[in-house]
Amino acid sequence: MKVLVFDTKPYDREYLERENKNYNFKLKFLESKLSPDTAKLANGYDVVCAFVNDDINAETIDILVQNGVKAIAMRCAGYNNVDMKHAYGKIHVVRVPKYSPYAVAEHAMALLLTLNRKIHRAYIRTRDSNFALNGLLGFDLHGKTAGIVGTGQIGRCFIDICKGFGMKIIAYDAYPNPDLGLEYVDLNTLLAQSDVISLHCPLTQDTHYMLNAESMKRLKKGVVIVNTSRGALIETSALIEALKSGQIGGAALDVYEEEADVFFEDWSNQVIQDDQLMRLLSFNNVILTSHQAFFTRDALAKIAEVTFLNLKEIAENINPIENEICYRCEKFGKDCNRKQGKPCF
Ligand code: NAI
Repeated sequence: MKVLVFDTKPYDREYLERENKNYNFKLKFLESKLSPDTAKLANGYDVVCAFVNDDINAETIDILVQNGVKAIAMRCAGYNNVDMKHAYGKIHVVRVPKYSPYAVAEHAMALLLTLNRKIHRAYIRTRDSNFALNGLLGFDLHGKTAGIVGTGQIGRCFIDICKGFGMKIIAYDAYPNPDLGLEYVDLNTLLAQSDVISLHCPLTQDTHYMLNAESMKRLKKGVVIVNTSRGALIETSALIEALKSGQIGGAALDVYEEEADVFFEDWSNQVIQDDQLMRLLSFNNVILTSHQAFFTRDALAKIAEVTFLNLKEIAENINPIENEICYRCEKFGKDCNRKQGKPCF
């Protein structure tokens, strides 16, 4: 089977090539992102492999289908960048649903600790022989309330970590899981009561701009926001205003709504044109990493392992494919075809 891998970085290639020794698929690696402009390069390939910031809209999908591509293998968990409705019935879409929730949850806590205890500033100060503590004051996490939005794989890992710090947990999920023994509250209660809010739900039409100018008014003053999920859960312009007014006391971000044009690349010798991003980076109570929460050796190895298991099922025409996602699954939840052992389409 021939697989065209888009948006490849050296680390992707290393892990995918290593895993391919067990399979011997014909892989070709491209640095370009998958988009309407590049989709035709997939002519003659059976599958394209894509990542979080590829633009897999209706046009991209049509071009892939016209060029005979059977499946899109997402080497990530989120798929908000794929037009699933348009893909349904035309092209199979698989993903890696659970590679290392620990990687993301641990990074979320690393961001929170760094921001709260100002480790990033202390690191630079002591290297400059500045041993003063002014401006480095933080707060105990112990006893504070962590509001977790989305209690799936990553949210649950983050909850366990927060419990280890002695935090009180409250949670909001559109589909609460009664087996978890969590205190679920409605979103407004979570916004009003939490000292720290960490977002772990997917980006959908329902969650887009979940934190906006209106909902931010309900926040406890000085709350710290952690977002390792997807940038567009937060309306950036509203976040900037809330940081300026002190309504939000700090933001620890691994994602940003307009990250696709900037993240994963070195812009250090150029002028960044995104004014909102630069304004965010100017706050001393904002810490931003470049969508790196997934980036551990363990996660990359697991992503490669599951991606190839997905590719093998595609090559063997197995249907339903275990890790297939489709519009119908999303729409009908537990009544989806795949969960009943039938093909998605
Ligand atoms: P998951 O599917 O296990 O959990 C998502 C949870 O969100 C579920 O409990 C679901 O019921 C809940 N949810 C769905 N719609 C909701 C809504 N409207 N309001 C509140 N909750 C809702 O997903 P997982 O693996 O925990 O990943 C969560 C997100 O983390 C992914 O969607 C992805 O966007 C992001 N992610 C970020 C990474 C990074 O490197 N920064 C890496 C991997 C995932």
